[in-house]
Amino acid sequence: MTKHLISSADLGRAEVEDILETASSMHDLQRREVKKVPTLRGRTVINFFFEDSTRTRSSFEIAGKWMSADTINLSAKGSSTSKGESLRDTAMTVDAMAVDALVIRHNASGACQQVAQWVRCSVINAGDGTHEHPTQALLDAYTLRTRLGDLDGKHVVIVGDLTHSRVFRSNVITLKTLGARVTVVAPPTLMPSGIGAWSQADGFATSWDLDPVLDGESEHGPVDAVMMLRVQRERMSGGFFPTPREYTVGYGLTRDRLDRLVARNDDVLVLHPGPMNRGLEIAPEAADSPQSVVLDQVSAGVAVRMAVLYHLLAGDDTPAPTPAASPVTDGAAR
Ligand code: NCD
Repeated sequence: MTKHLISSADLGRAEVEDILETASSMHDLQRREVKKVPTLRGRTVINFFFEDSTRTRSSFEIAGKWMSADTINLSAKGSSTSKGESLRDTAMTVDAMAVDALVIRHNASGACQQVAQWVRCSVINAGDGTHEHPTQALLDAYTLRTRLGDLDGKHVVIVGDLTHSRVFRSNVITLKTLGARVTVVAPPTLMPSGIGAWSQADGFATSWDLDPVLDGESEHGPVDAVMMLRVQRERMSGGFFPTPREYTVGYGLTRDRLDRLVARNDDVLVLHPGPMNRGLEIAPEAADSPQSVVLDQVSAGVAVRMAVLYHLLAGDDTPAPTPAASPVTDGAAR
């Protein structure tokens, strides 16, 4: 296992499978009344979030706490960043406190890679700009595997604002690592430049036309799962589409599109990393449908982040907690 987790490309197939297997034992822990295990006792994890987050930050915090690590949350507002301190000085300051891991979310693509060169502790990328979000891709793969089994040959369609999406970039890498077939769909204005060369090199398909892909008429055939991505208005400076209504008509998972998907395959899965713009990229009927695994993704997020912290921080001789292993005593856990 690498020291840092910056990009999904840091993980080969064996490593992804190892993490997902560990996550599965961690998920069993989540169902216990006392969820705490001593695995990371004495380790310190700092969650440093320079951008807003609900799921990622709280799940990293819960993951660390359930494994008995000391977890501390910092945000740009309330830290010396707001007094003008540079990222380098802030990172080196935190590192000088002998912490074991820095979980970083930052609005600049490449920020985590930079920080990893400045510090001694492990760095985990919790989303850097429009670049990558490797733990999201792992939790999506975990969710898909739980429902679909082995992902070899399964067809996953990723739809939406690809230009601004770190989730899409990490997902393509991890899904391809696990042998899935991937088609990405976006309007021309939200299709990243340079995607032609990347899709050829890594063997995934691109399309501007959602309906034929959902109807199973694209080169990868019938669809096993559709991942809808948020329209990231906070990262948009100009007009990427004429009106929200037109976006929905062309690229939203509307009730109609869901009905057509389900008519072909009622086991089809609907994913969304959240936060959702209900009524824009996903209709409430799709978000709340029996096919939706949006909350499964959230639940998998804790298990997968526990697994990642375990693989990066626990010594080789620290056994992974198993459902049968005894938790820390009730008194200490509460
Ligand atoms: C995503 C993110 O922050 O990149 N959300 C998440 O981590 N669950 C996607 C998004 O913000 O749309």
